[in-house]
Amino acid sequence: MLSTIERRLSATLRDARRTAARRFLVDRQTGLWRSELAWLGVRSRDHARITAVLDETPDTRTLVLEPPRGWVPHRPGQWTRVEIELAGVRTSRCYSLSSAPHDPELRITVKRVPNGRVSGRLHALRAGDALRISPAEGQFVLPTHPARLLLLSGGSGITPMRAMWRALLESDAADVVIVHHARTRADVIFGAELDALAKRRGFRVVVRLDDEHARPGEGGFDEGALRTAVPDLFAGSAGSAADLEEREVFVCGPPAMMQRVEAMGLPRLHVERFAAMPRPAADPDATEVLVTLGGRASPSGRTLPARTDGTLLDQLEAAGERPASGCRMGLCRTCSCLKRSGTVRHAISGAISDAPDEIIQLCVSVPCTDVELGPIVQAAVHSAMPHERAAERTLDPREKLARRSTQKVDPR
Ligand SMILES: Cc1cc2nc3c(=O)[nH]c(=O)nc-3n(C[C@H](O)[C@H](O)[C@H](O)COP(=O)(O)OP(=O)(O)OC[C@H]3O[C@@H](n4cnc5c(N)ncnc54)[C@H](O)[C@@H]3O)c2cc1C
Ligand code: FES
Repeated sequence: MLSTIERRLSATLRDARRTAARRFLVDRQTGLWRSELAWLGVRSRDHARITAVLDETPDTRTLVLEPPRGWVPHRPGQWTRVEIELAGVRTSRCYSLSSAPHDPELRITVKRVPNGRVSGRLHALRAGDALRISPAEGQFVLPTHPARLLLLSGGSGITPMRAMWRALLESDAADVVIVHHARTRADVIFGAELDALAKRRGFRVVVRLDDEHARPGEGGFDEGALRTAVPDLFAGSAGSAADLEEREVFVCGPPAMMQRVEAMGLPRLHVERFAAMPRPAADPDATEVLVTLGGRASPSGRTLPARTDGTLLDQLEAAGERPASGCRMGLCRTCSCLKRSGTVRHAISGAISDAPDEIIQLCVSVPCTDVELGPIVQAAVHSAMPHERAAERTLDPREKLARRSTQKVDPR
């Protein structure tokens, strides 16, 4: 009798061990494994390890990171795509690297957005946690030999500027004007560093606080205030252009600030947006087209009406679809999708894609004709990291799609 119980017990334990081993070794997602290995100090190729968390302001934190193995140094001003899992769904957002390439560690500085899912989650991370990040990307970068610079920022838009000024501290030929806008003194990110920078030769720092300068609702950048604070930017020596016209100007801040700076028509303006531009008003001449999801041959294929004056992402979301998205500006490629047929226009560059089987970004693609999209729109979009994309480049578009379509989507 006892031996029967013992046999049953040992069989049950053996099954339990097998199940645990299978779950432990096979069922868990590779990404989770990698993040746990990174937590144990094993460096992976796509996970950084958080070595410290620094409070910058009441709603902004810096994550100090040990870079992933094989990290290629970024250029000052570039960003990385951070990918986290929210309720089992891979979700990605871009964050500028706030450290300079020569710094011993990487940094991202994250402002917590009210109800923001990724920023909220990043604020909950602690030293020792792992974070999946992409290699650095972006064209908002310091010129190789910058002569004169104006760095204009508002709120968290100061993060790429920190990478730039730290890089410039290494060079001795600096003529840098930094103008930063914040709501209150307590909201100034990197306030102590800005104070120290103001004492360095070659740097001029202006911090404008809305609660000191602006009338309610009129905060942020103001050309008149810039003219008063740094008048020589607007003056030119006899017969020459104003200083500002020859200066490399970098701007990153809230949309209203960006619009005001862009309206100045500066010839050497570099712009970085953290949020998509407000949608343009509906075009009265727009026509209706059809967007087919999943392909006509697919039993799950559906056809939706769409207009020629809105992006596919906005229109699919309005129709109740849940394609994955991140930046909504054509940067991060989270919303990449195979267009099987039809013509779309790039909402920012105006470029036309009319060839079949082209990969497009839904967030910046406006349909011009009927469009047929691959099943990726319904099933999922895998926000491939650049090294994964490099591996994918050799594949046929349909093969790429098959590889990606098993991923879950960001249900924003
Ligand atoms: C190139 C680049 C660099 C960036 N660098 C930085 C940086 O250095 N630091 C930084 O703090 N941020 C940076 N950002 C912004 C960052 O990527 C995120 O957009 C930001 O952190 C908010 O993400 P979230 O997931 O927390 O918010 P989300 O969850 O995306 O929400 C953002 C806001 O939209 C609202 N919202 C969400 N979903 C919907 C919906 N369906 N309908 C209506 N409203 C909705 C939310 O309530 C919230 O207020 C950068 C962005 C880009 C593109
Ligand atoms: S959401 Fe980033 S490219 Fe479309």
